[in-house]
Amino acid sequence: MIFTTIVDIAYLIGAILFVWGLRLLSSPDSARKGNTLAAIGMAIGIAGSLCDNRIDGEGNYVWIAGGIVLGATIGWLVAKKIKMTDMPQMVSVFNGLGGACAAILSIVELSTVSLDTGGKVISLFALLIGCVAFTGSMLAYLKLDGKIWDSQVTWPKHNIINQFLLIIVLGMFTYLAMTNASNTLLIAFLVLCLFYGWSFVAPIGGADMPVVISLLNSFTGLSAAAAGLIYDNNLMLVGGILVGASGTILTVLMCQAMNRSLFNVLIGGFSAAGGAAQGADDQVAKTTSAVDASILLYYSQSVMFVPGYGLAVAQAQKALKELDDTLEANGVDVKYAIHPVAGRMPGHMNVLLAEADVPYPKLLDLDDANAALPSTDVVVIVGANDVVNPAAVDDPTSSIYGMPVLNVWDAKHVIVLKRSMSPGYAGIQNQLFFHEKTKMFFGDAKDSIQSLLSEVKNL
Ligand code: TAP
Repeated sequence: MIFTTIVDIAYLIGAILFVWGLRLLSSPDSARKGNTLAAIGMAIGIAGSLCDNRIDGEGNYVWIAGGIVLGATIGWLVAKKIKMTDMPQMVSVFNGLGGACAAILSIVELSTVSLDTGGKVISLFALLIGCVAFTGSMLAYLKLDGKIWDSQVTWPKHNIINQFLLIIVLGMFTYLAMTNASNTLLIAFLVLCLFYGWSFVAPIGGADMPVVISLLNSFTGLSAAAAGLIYDNNLMLVGGILVGASGTILTVLMCQAMNRSLFNVLIGGFSAAGGAAQGADDQVAKTTSAVDASILLYYSQSVMFVPGYGLAVAQAQKALKELDDTLEANGVDVKYAIHPVAGRMPGHMNVLLAEADVPYPKLLDLDDANAALPSTDVVVIVGANDVVNPAAVDDPTSSIYGMPVLNVWDAKHVIVLKRSMSPGYAGIQNQLFFHEKTKMFFGDAKDSIQSLLSEVKNL
């Protein structure tokens, strides 16, 4: 009895650490601490589960220890090796494996234990959502990593086929919940759910992938919460609910940042290609040199850096911070404008800049940056493109029309650091590059910033 109470207290401490850790994750300053606290909470949860005599696992300690060692080693190695720009792929795979765990737990439960209708509904729910999260996330990984193209997995009228599949899935779900169906039918349901997850993600592509990943993340949370209910494990339930809720909130925020409804994202209204705002053939973008750009920066009063995906590719964050320090030492007020979907994952720019020790108060969110831009002397765009595309504001035929962007053209001068005139993630040209205030500075972002830095130091 006392032992059970100690285990319950361990679960409670684990749950508190999850909530506290999640709270600290909301700021880059405290995120590392938040991650550590949540990991400690998880360790306490695992220890509690191993000591919990309400869980039937006697004699399985070798298997459990083997799983923990193998999982921790693979997770550690992958996290250590992964490049910052490949983080979304890693999140997808980890997420999918979480869904697979919940699905495996529920299939074991459904095929070996005699459950009442409520128990069957919960287990079938965990099975369905876990399978969808697994195959959906694996397809998202393959797409993000460029191993599979949208056109290879999309069929004509795919969304209608998906609706039809969903009706079959729900029909089978109801039948299995109401009857004592055979294991063969259960396996058929498992295969159908796996296929549905793949097919659900197949027609979604381009800039919508982060929204889908976040949605699948919330699915994994829900399936883990359902597995917590199956095993009567409160910590698993709390952890699953936290993941489910935070994934849902992130999904909603990302849809808002792109001015899209979730329905619109899921039926695939925003493709990676297409859209308007092509530069007319006779338009010529003006270029600048390191010398001219550095003079402009050195003698300005306020500078705003706009980091984008190219900053991450070039790993130019530390060089950028050095340029910031040098300009600040000369009395220039330097700020950073952070667009919510700049880069390839939520908070991507915040993480990069925190890595370079850029003080958090220097980072302006979209609204604050747009308010400050009219009084800014020079904007330096570092490998960003879609998030500064005026087509979102003034071209109703563009596929990104309506997406909130940084109105960099409101500043007095704009310098764009990128390697070529290539479009960004959404695949559309950017009229900003031909704007009268804009000068292009071509080259790898890190090299360009370093040459600006050495010129500024020479002044
Ligand atoms: P993008 O529109 O993708 O533009 C990035 C630009 O960086 C490219 O035009 C590229 O031009 C340049 N670049 C690449 N490597 C470079 C290097 N080494 N040095 C200098 N420049 C380099 O990026 P963004 O403005 O950050 O917008 C993000 C886009 O990704 C949005 O469409 C968003 O919806 C989407 N998205 C966001 C997320 C999240 S959650 N953040 C996830 C997935 C997709 P060059 O090739 O000419 O150099």
